[in-house]
Amino acid sequence: MTRSSIWGTGRSLPERVITNADMEKLVDTSDEWITTRTGIKERRQAAPNQSTSTLSIDASRRALEMAGLHAKDLDLIICSTISPDQPLPSTAAFIQRGLGASACCSFDLAAACSGFLFGLTVADQFIKTGQARHVLVVGTELLSRYLDYNDRATCVIFGDGSAAGVLGPAREPAGILAAEMHTEGAFADHLFIPAGGAARPASCETVREGGHYIKMRGNELFKVAVRSLEEVSRRVLEKAGVTTDQIDLFIPHQANQRITDAVRERLDVPEEKVYSNIARVGNTSSASIPICLDECVRSGRVKKGDLILMAAFGAGVTWGGVLMRW
Ligand code: UT7
Repeated sequence: MTRSSIWGTGRSLPERVITNADMEKLVDTSDEWITTRTGIKERRQAAPNQSTSTLSIDASRRALEMAGLHAKDLDLIICSTISPDQPLPSTAAFIQRGLGASACCSFDLAAACSGFLFGLTVADQFIKTGQARHVLVVGTELLSRYLDYNDRATCVIFGDGSAAGVLGPAREPAGILAAEMHTEGAFADHLFIPAGGAARPASCETVREGGHYIKMRGNELFKVAVRSLEEVSRRVLEKAGVTTDQIDLFIPHQANQRITDAVRERLDVPEEKVYSNIARVGNTSSASIPICLDECVRSGRVKKGDLILMAAFGAGVTWGGVLMRW
């Protein structure tokens, strides 16, 4: 079976920057608290005329350009988002329409912060089995549209952004070497949106209660996050027969700088090999890992042949890891 590799990446971030000082004007918080508890200094917020799909289309065009492909070359689009344009149809359908990717199938994937890695894993399977040749995987969120700007426990954490990767049959030496996906529904109520779905449809009451906003049990999540990120990282490395000292770059999901530091220490990866942009963009859920990857690729931080470990954790709870050679 042919391995897959990422041929191109792209990202799109809204221009508007919301600093911790801006947050201090909205809720009872401080730059000092946000910085020391999360590592975040600022995050991006989409303009009213932007949507999850419009940011995704921008990011995808850049990824296609780097890959040297046209939208019409795509066989499949997988969009990971928990902040879709609309409940129906999928955001992937809007991305497909916007790109003019007429020859392909597209669907959304809901695995929150792990979604981009789940998407890579699914794309890899399609390419390996010959069902698809060129797959676009998008990780994209407009979380600002789902945040309660009276809830200091969530509104300071999350940000908007979009990024994409285009996969095709591996161009040596590159390729996805190992991947893992996990879900533990027992923790489904650690990070959730209680209303607006079939179980509790939108009503005046749900809107009054703020039931359409993201709720988070941050403390409980923190412990599961550190444990599962370490575990899944070890599993993908073991699967590929690689040791931590062979990794050139570790890209963990940007949930909290303290989580990144704890996982890095447990895995014994040197600080200079761990990528972090949480100070600049906050937690962008599905978009977090692909934004990091695109920043690394375009800045030259990633070089041909480098071994990259990516690990993510999010609502569900879900967690996953991908080890690849660039
Ligand atoms: O993306 C994947 C899923 N998400 C995660 O993995 C998130 C994981 N969790 C976390 O990153 C952290 O738990 C948070 C950053 C969300 C919270 O940090 P924490 O150190 O766990 O704080 P805490 O929830 O234990 O709260 C400590 C105190 C509380 O006050 P009291 O009860 O001790 O008086 C909170 O009310 O901090 C208070 N607090 C705040 N204070 C100032 C909570 N949010 C804020 C805030 N500003 N924004």
